[in-house]
Amino acid sequence: MAETSLPADVAPDPAPSPPTDGIVVRGVARSFGSVHALVGVDMHARAGRVTALVGPNGSGKTTLLLVLAGLLVPDAGEVRVGGVDPLADSRGARARTGWMPDAFGTWDSLTAREVLETFAAAYGIERAAARERALSLLATVHLAEFADRPASVLSRGQKQRLGLARALVHDPSVLLLDEPASGLDPRSRVDLRLLVRRLADEGKTVLVSSHVLTELEEMVDDAVFLSRGRTVDAPVVDARSGRRTWTVRALRLGALTDWLTTVGAQWRHEDPGFTPPDPAAAGGVLIEVDGDEGAAQLVRDAVAAGVPLTSLAPAGGSLEQAYLALEEERR
Ligand SMILES: Nc1ncnc2c1ncn2[C@@H]1O[C@H](COP(=O)(O)OP(=O)(O)O)[C@@H](O)[C@H]1O
Ligand SMILES: [Mg+2]
Repeated sequence: MAETSLPADVAPDPAPSPPTDGIVVRGVARSFGSVHALVGVDMHARAGRVTALVGPNGSGKTTLLLVLAGLLVPDAGEVRVGGVDPLADSRGARARTGWMPDAFGTWDSLTAREVLETFAAAYGIERAAARERALSLLATVHLAEFADRPASVLSRGQKQRLGLARALVHDPSVLLLDEPASGLDPRSRVDLRLLVRRLADEGKTVLVSSHVLTELEEMVDDAVFLSRGRTVDAPVVDARSGRRTWTVRALRLGALTDWLTTVGAQWRHEDPGFTPPDPAAAGGVLIEVDGDEGAAQLVRDAVAAGVPLTSLAPAGGSLEQAYLALEEERR
């Protein structure tokens, strides 16, 4: 008797199909006159995950988010947001997308609650439901007590939180958050992290831009790196054994840099500012070291050579490491 089907575990893999969920971007470019803000962006942010959009100032993060939010038309390339093309179906895309800009207007004299109700109305939510939704979101972002105060008098951090609530008004499946943590106090950052995680657990796609990497580090599952308008593959750093950047500090910077130069180590200043640091004063440099073993060896050698070391520490988490590698590339 002929086999009619293969057991699942020996069935041939179907040909990999292009991703359709979450956010898919292919070959997107956008210029402003002679400024090429986006040159070639390819990325996929998956549903159910929080994806970081990381890049130096001016690398094109906001421009990309505006394109994804359907607020800016790209010169070239393809975009799908929750399976919808914002160029072909802007209404459908808007219904699926929550956009939190990096700065907010003053909303004239509207109260915090009215701001949310106004946006809810714009999304076609009827009055009673809009009211309920506004109050529940104000509670979510801990602004319940400000519900009936003018939004214009809120602090920067409170406005950020209202902006987050606004992005959530129509329960979108894709969230685009531009520098959401900037201006937030530590408590609000923790709240933001928890909220973002909960939204991803509900199956939403969350794309968060920032250059404040320590916050992103704890918040995100995946990362997309932008450098000069292009998505780039950033090296993934294995914290324990991989080659990574460490900060080395000494009582006299000159003694440290002289020794590093003598032994042929590659180092660079922590703060590549315009004025060179005083070699007679305390200071630090960044140096690439192979794993924890390499760090231990560095300390032994430096101490043996009489370098007045004061500290040696990893120069940040894996996102920060990858970001610094990008910065290096820029020089
Ligand atoms: N409306 C605009 N007109 C002209 N140039 C712009 C405009 N928006 C952005 N740019 C330029 O495009 C580049 C990318 O900007 P942006 O996307 O805001 O970067 P990021 O958000 O990563 O800091 C920058 O060089 C910026 O000056
Ligand atoms: Mg920006």
